[in-house]
Amino acid sequence: MSPRGCAGWTLPSNKDSHDLATNQPLKSFLFAQYWLRLPDYNCSKRRVRQDNECSLREPNRSSRNMTSVLERGLKPSWSWLGVDIYRVFHLAAVFGLTCVLLKVIQLYHRRQELIKAFSSFPSHPTHWLYGHVHELLQGEILNKTELWSQKYPYAFPLWFGSFSAFLNITHPDYAKAVFARGDPKDNVSYRHIVPWIGKGLLVLHGPKWYQHRKLLTPGFHYDILKLYVPLIADSTKVMLDKWEQLITQEKSVELFEHVSLMTLDSIMKCAFSYQSNCQTDRENSYIRAVFDLSYLVDQRLRIFPYHNDLIYWLSPHGFQFRKACQLAHRHTDKVIRERKESLKDEREREKVQKKRHLDFLDILLHAKDENGAGLSDEDLRAEVDTFMFEGHDTTASGISWLLYCMALYPEHQQRCREEIKEILGDRTTIQWDDLGKMTYSTMCIKESFRLYPPVPGVSRQLSKPITFHDGRTLPEGSLVAVSIYLIHRNPSMWKDPLVFDPWRFSPENVSDRHSHAFLPFAAGSRNCIGQQFAMTELKVA
Ligand code: HEM
Repeated sequence: MSPRGCAGWTLPSNKDSHDLATNQPLKSFLFAQYWLRLPDYNCSKRRVRQDNECSLREPNRSSRNMTSVLERGLKPSWSWLGVDIYRVFHLAAVFGLTCVLLKVIQLYHRRQELIKAFSSFPSHPTHWLYGHVHELLQGEILNKTELWSQKYPYAFPLWFGSFSAFLNITHPDYAKAVFARGDPKDNVSYRHIVPWIGKGLLVLHGPKWYQHRKLLTPGFHYDILKLYVPLIADSTKVMLDKWEQLITQEKSVELFEHVSLMTLDSIMKCAFSYQSNCQTDRENSYIRAVFDLSYLVDQRLRIFPYHNDLIYWLSPHGFQFRKACQLAHRHTDKVIRERKESLKDEREREKVQKKRHLDFLDILLHAKDENGAGLSDEDLRAEVDTFMFEGHDTTASGISWLLYCMALYPEHQQRCREEIKEILGDRTTIQWDDLGKMTYSTMCIKESFRLYPPVPGVSRQLSKPITFHDGRTLPEGSLVAVSIYLIHRNPSMWKDPLVFDPWRFSPENVSDRHSHAFLPFAAGSRNCIGQQFAMTELKVA
């Protein structure tokens, strides 16, 4: 056996061992050390049997023979497999320690990079381990950040633990700079909803996002929205009939669940042509699952060990999350399966072909790319899950907050009532043409969106460096969160921001305002595709 056959490995050059940027040389250095010793050991074992081998490398034969005798005595019973357990443990320990060391170095670098990136943005003092998380307890994040935004105008960093930070944007000038670009969604907060809603329009990026957005935009054309008005009016009537009953019990009622069922009923009828009767069925497991999932996703973001998939999947919360996902998917699978079944019927297919306007599910099922290929089952499910969730939860929140505002400010409620009565005359249900005449009610909806935006913030991961109007910059890869909630309450944009004043949205007041001071549906190419649907639903309901 040649010396190389025995050793077979060389040490890395000095240059390589200093190159920690890739972490690879350090790893190979430690492995080389290990393997350089291994042939000696193998040779000494063989020496018992074959003696003379490897004589080139033997400084002290007698001590080696002694070692091999001891080793034979200590060998576990399964060494006949040709594996030495101590060597395996040694290898595992070296490997484990190397990984830990590399991770520590990587995290140290990450922290230094983050500190440097955010150095020009002063922030609320952070804890070295928790960052700001321990101060942003459940339900506190909006109030706390509102307080901090008074001290740090424009933007301030928010630390989630020691190694993850976002620049939290609170000024329209900054938001404008972000929305003018096409950065992808961040890989921290949106990542946690992917097992639930899949990679649909909300989280997709690049050419696939563009292709899906182009495909689905016609589903929200005005001509289609017109057809939805009576469907939404029917769903609203079912909800109001339920309330008529409840009111007789003279107990307080939590409205959000009722409103969620109504908006779910509407999106199912409008986008999926599906009659679910979910408002009158005793228990709706999908709505329950959506409540649980929303809570669990938010909780996962706060508990930073949960950012690790393995830890989360093994935790009780991870188990609950998987169970709730299964329930939600069962619901969307049923909708897809039933529609696919019905399309096997020749008459049904003809009916769809004759439809002047396809619904959202028709569009998805009949979509073909330039090669004639349809959407994969996975893509189809992701879009159905995305629209099923986005299409009902946000509008439910919007309607609930609007009702809250109307209850708090009866004078505005009265004005809306009078306006609608005047528009309807003798009729009892709203029609498409009425919606454009609801001027005061629309101003109230917008003012409620301003104070209580259903989507309080969105975030992006910068695909290239950004420079804001004041010269401050952030490098590529940084996470930025646009706080819609704080922009809507920024005192430099809104006089007396906490006062409910629908007149802020009169045409003359709107014209003087910053283009990015009011962002309930975000802005730019990734704005809300369903905003016209949402406004229609809010007005009808
Ligand atoms: C009051 C109701 C609604 C509000 C406040 C709202 C708000 C938003 C916001 C802020 C975004 C941007 C998200 C981001 O950048 O990460 C968004 C995106 C989106 N919304 Fe809405 N939304 C509402 C209703 C709806 C409805 C009814 C649908 C569907 C029927 C819908 C479907 C979507 C989708 C698919 C996206 C992703 C669009 C894309 O990235 O191309 N939304 N929405």
